Amino acid sequence: MKDFGEIKEQVKAKIAEVKDGAQLSEFWQSYLGKTGVISGLMKEMKSVPPEEKPNFGKAVNDVRVWAQELYQTKQAEIKQRELERRYERETVDVTMPALKRAPGNLHPITLIKQEMIEVFAGMGFDIYEGPEIEDDDHNFTRLNVAKDHPSRDMQDTFWLTEDLLLRTHTSPGQIRTMDAKKPPIKVLVPGKVFRSDSDATHSPMFSQMEGLVVDKGITLCDLQGMLDRFVQQIFGGGTKTRLRPSYFPFTEPSVEVDVSCFECARETEFLPGNGCPLCKGTGWIEVLGGGVVNKKVLENCGIDPEEYSGLAFGIGIERITMLKYGIPNMGLFFENNLDLLQQFKG
Ligand code: DAH
Repeated sequence: MKDFGEIKEQVKAKIAEVKDGAQLSEFWQSYLGKTGVISGLMKEMKSVPPEEKPNFGKAVNDVRVWAQELYQTKQAEIKQRELERRYERETVDVTMPALKRAPGNLHPITLIKQEMIEVFAGMGFDIYEGPEIEDDDHNFTRLNVAKDHPSRDMQDTFWLTEDLLLRTHTSPGQIRTMDAKKPPIKVLVPGKVFRSDSDATHSPMFSQMEGLVVDKGITLCDLQGMLDRFVQQIFGGGTKTRLRPSYFPFTEPSVEVDVSCFECARETEFLPGNGCPLCKGTGWIEVLGGGVVNKKVLENCGIDPEEYSGLAFGIGIERITMLKYGIPNMGLFFENNLDLLQQFKG
């Protein structure tokens, strides 16, 4: 009786060499597949004498079953090994430090703008945002700045056409508001403005916040009252305001508004007149312009100046931010300087 010892030795040696799925299927092809060695044994049946045929057949079958078992055991081993490798690959070390993400934060100008809006919204102001491209009429003429008026030289304008320009201030928002709405008016116009001007305290693009109140019996006292409240909320409780006479074509009288120096007030070694670097020893810092709305401006918007009066002011947002945080150069706001910007994380 054939025991196929040689073939079995071969099969044992081959299966021992199998290391992965590809080699395993090669093994199947070579021994158990249709054209494999074991299947080939069946073809020898022809030359086996008839009385030995059943035994021969059984012996071939035993080899096949034996080889199939080897195959299956190997297959299970390989699967297990692959699984272990995958577990190893996909292991997460929960003790590793996490990847750092840098969340963004609002720009200081945006923060102060929002803070300013909150202060004035608390006094009942609405918000209006006008266009950045304006016409001569809204930016100058109806604000009482006639074509040949020397005060046009106060602001160096970027002209786009004969008539269109990049607004030089947020004051045209006053005209647009009064065109759209009759008194009582209490509006705040924040936005970007543009002037051909650039140095440590000037930038060709900067931000302003315009304020306009029109109602019966509005006076300069109302302006001072509102601005007192504004500066106290922005710069601290003890801050005072001082109005100095000035000139703007759209207000009469016009004032420049100073705040008491919060640096001197905070630092005892910097007493007013003692060389404080912020107020230069004067005890006061200029922060904005304003006044009583010029009657001509009210008339230009169809509002009767005998019945109504108004107050207006314009605040430079960069200037307030520079003062509040001691930032020496306006350019720093526009340079994407992370050292500066990251200090404003909430
Ligand atoms: N528009 C002025 C400027 O850009 C600021 C200003 C002054 C606005 C007086 C006002 C005002 O509303 O009453 O410099």
